[in-house]
Amino acid sequence: MRILFLCHGFNSLTQRLYVELMERGHEVSVEFDINDAVTVAAVELYRPDLIIAPYLRRAIPETVWRRHVCLVLHPGIPGDRGPSALDWAIMDGAARWGVTVLQANGELDGGDIWAHAEFPMRDARKSSLYRNEVTEAAVTAMLVAVERFAGGGFVPQPLDYRDPGVAGRARPLMRQTGRRIDWQHDDSETVLRKIRAADGAPGVEDEILGEGYLLFDACAEDSLGGPPGAIIARRDGAVCRATRDGAVWIGHLRRIDLRAETFKLPAVRALGAAADRVPEVSAGPGSSTYREIRYEEEAGAGFLYFDFYNGAMDTAQCQRLLDAYRQACARPTRVIVLFGGRDFWSNGIHLNVIEAAESAADESWRNINAMNDLAHAVITTPSHWTISALRGNAGAGGVFLALAADQVWARSGVVLNPHYRSMGNLYGSEYWTYLLPRRVGAQQAESVTGNRLPLGAAAALRLGLIDAHFGRDEEEFRSAVRERALRLAADPSLHAMLARKQSRRVQDEAVRPLQAYRKEELEHLRMNFYGFDPSYHVARYHFVHRVPHSWTPLHLARHRRLDWIAAPESHPADQA
Ligand code: COA
Repeated sequence: MRILFLCHGFNSLTQRLYVELMERGHEVSVEFDINDAVTVAAVELYRPDLIIAPYLRRAIPETVWRRHVCLVLHPGIPGDRGPSALDWAIMDGAARWGVTVLQANGELDGGDIWAHAEFPMRDARKSSLYRNEVTEAAVTAMLVAVERFAGGGFVPQPLDYRDPGVAGRARPLMRQTGRRIDWQHDDSETVLRKIRAADGAPGVEDEILGEGYLLFDACAEDSLGGPPGAIIARRDGAVCRATRDGAVWIGHLRRIDLRAETFKLPAVRALGAAADRVPEVSAGPGSSTYREIRYEEEAGAGFLYFDFYNGAMDTAQCQRLLDAYRQACARPTRVIVLFGGRDFWSNGIHLNVIEAAESAADESWRNINAMNDLAHAVITTPSHWTISALRGNAGAGGVFLALAADQVWARSGVVLNPHYRSMGNLYGSEYWTYLLPRRVGAQQAESVTGNRLPLGAAAALRLGLIDAHFGRDEEEFRSAVRERALRLAADPSLHAMLARKQSRRVQDEAVRPLQAYRKEELEHLRMNFYGFDPSYHVARYHFVHRVPHSWTPLHLARHRRLDWIAAPESHPADQA
């Protein structure tokens, strides 16, 4: 079928549905929700069989939903309505939650139900639930709905609150007054729940040392404590704040300033000089504390976790990870698994920290070189078999960093964006000019980086970008990776595998030294950072400030491309 996505942005859930539908042979084009006239024009141009709204913040124009079936994804169980669905589910401590596919009509979230799917809730940030459980349930429910539509004859269920299967209800927008933390009275669990329900947007409004901030990225702490509300410790960019019965870590803050545009930053950085007096406390043996980098070891295999918020890696984080990697290499193990973070494996250099730097160009340069040092260390590891195990998505330099390992395994639901150009024509580094063609060939390397589209795990495997994908969810993937890694570590042929990789490295180095790839990539980047064309700096500004789209890029809006030829309609355009 010809399917049009109407969406606020091409976010991770939208990308996942896009790759799943394309994988099933559908043609999908994307139009961002700019205004009603643009939406109507896109529908007229594309004449879709079906319209899907995976992530929309406004109602679909009546002229569109009256003439076309529009399936809207709502991140709530049947009957749930309103713009703060997940926020309420977290705040209420719901044991189960779900997603519902509704047909757009005049009532927001009140349309007939085509499909729904449920999942058990997890103690996690809203953004993490959205990128994992909600996304998986959305794929399940949307594929059922699309099949029902394609099959014809399915009659969606009108929303009926008398139906015992309809357990949700209409809830209002959750306001800051309902999210407010009372540091004198709230216990740690309540504080965590409030911050998690507001992550990654809108955050919880609060005051720290007399200034207004939005709080994000909360993590439990099980041994520190102090006067409720006091900032008692800092670690790796995060601050620890005492509660009535303990403390919580806060990783990221956004300063509230009515006179200036602000954006999210690591907490210590956002607090500036005010954080100087806060003591740096290293992570003790406590089971719950803030730890971005974690190493575990078992029977000849080392597992390195690096859970950087949003997958963004600033210069210091790259350096800390390089230290941890070197320590892992010094261990008497034979396999190292790079486990990344749960939500993102890596999204490359830290654009927010760069934006906040005195010289964005200098900080970009430092950051990319720190990423390169890390990639270099992985590429040139002679002693261990290395595996990048992608539990979460990866984008831009994060994908190429993953390719530095000997093997790349991904969770089956992972989406990769192996390209840089959307960031103001950024050339990119991380030795991608060496790593990508050696996996997929020069021609495919050109199209993967040039067409700027997301790749699902199945397509990435076909292309040779990754070596395997498995696991329906993070737990299943992690435990399968562990088993495979332990088997490898005990495999007598590992010795020969290591010898082969060392000789290939020697041969590759003789053909063209790694330094030559790095130098050439950095020459391009020097132009991106310091040259006359400001595209990268402008794109980064827009990205960091979350500036709404004013048009849909042509690589997504295929109906607006001159080379797009409409296939014969497989369905009557007018369904109503
Ligand atoms: N630096 C800083 N923040 C980043 C980031 C980066 N490299 N990559 C993602 N983020 C942040 C986003 O700002 C967003 O923040 P929020 O918590 O305020 O919402 C969050 O991570 C999620 O990103 P989003 O774009 O909403 O996620 P997505 O899953 O829809 O898209 C990407 C994933 C990778 C396609 C997209 O985030 C992206 O293009 N990132 C930039 C990649 C890049 O150009 N890196 C630099 C070159 S190496």
